[in-house]
Amino acid sequence: MQQIIAHRGASHEAPENTLEAFQLGLDQGADALECDIHLSSDGELMAIHDETVDRTSNGSGAVAALSRVELAALDAGSWKAPKWGGARIPTLAEVLDLVPPDRRILIEVKVGQTALPRLKAVLAASKLAREQIVVMEFDLETVIAAREAFPDLEVLWLIGFPSWLPSWTRRAVLKHRIKQAVHLGFDGVNVQDIPQLDADSIAECGTRQLKSYCWTVDDAHRTAQLFKGGIDGVATNRPGWTREQLGGL
Ligand code: G3P
Ligand code: CA
Repeated sequence: MQQIIAHRGASHEAPENTLEAFQLGLDQGADALECDIHLSSDGELMAIHDETVDRTSNGSGAVAALSRVELAALDAGSWKAPKWGGARIPTLAEVLDLVPPDRRILIEVKVGQTALPRLKAVLAASKLAREQIVVMEFDLETVIAAREAFPDLEVLWLIGFPSWLPSWTRRAVLKHRIKQAVHLGFDGVNVQDIPQLDADSIAECGTRQLKSYCWTVDDAHRTAQLFKGGIDGVATNRPGWTREQLGGL
């Protein structure tokens, strides 16, 4: 099934990476959630995108310098709008608890291999089926380590492109990364939304038995184009709106 993925939850409307945003994403019919994780000072996996809490809470400082309890005490919603004032920074375990049996979660590790032992423990304690869980990272060494740590989970390599990279180079890099991903036994690639991610490159993934995903698309025509090309999933900040628009396209 081609999946609409709620990027950091329904993060257009609700404060990203909070239980409120994830629940809203599910309520809006997202097939999957995308969640970023960092480690707290006492080794807990917390759902937050940045290295610091400054942008998305009323606190300040590095996530890695704050304990689970200190992080959970912060207001992680008011920055978005006053009505979200009750939102908190959740643990990954709390996010996993929200995911019903018919949905999935894509977990983006933001801190490299150091997170993998705790991730293994949290996933082992979760009620989710293996097919519901995806682990992904940009850092190649970490994806290789995740492949080894989680042989039974879907493991993706996140691929981004610096803005200065010329178009032809992007195509060559993407082609090369697809080959590398196959060679390294990854299940798929999750690619930044660039024009070079076209029907040909998606088809190349398919031919090589590699899953293909794209982030982050808030343009329903582009999502329709990617789905037509055969992509497995598209991450959007607006899952409900995207689904509605696709119905009308
Ligand atoms: O799903 C991948 C995408 O979320 C990566 O970018 O910065 O939103 O974590 P970022
Ligand atoms: Ca992410």
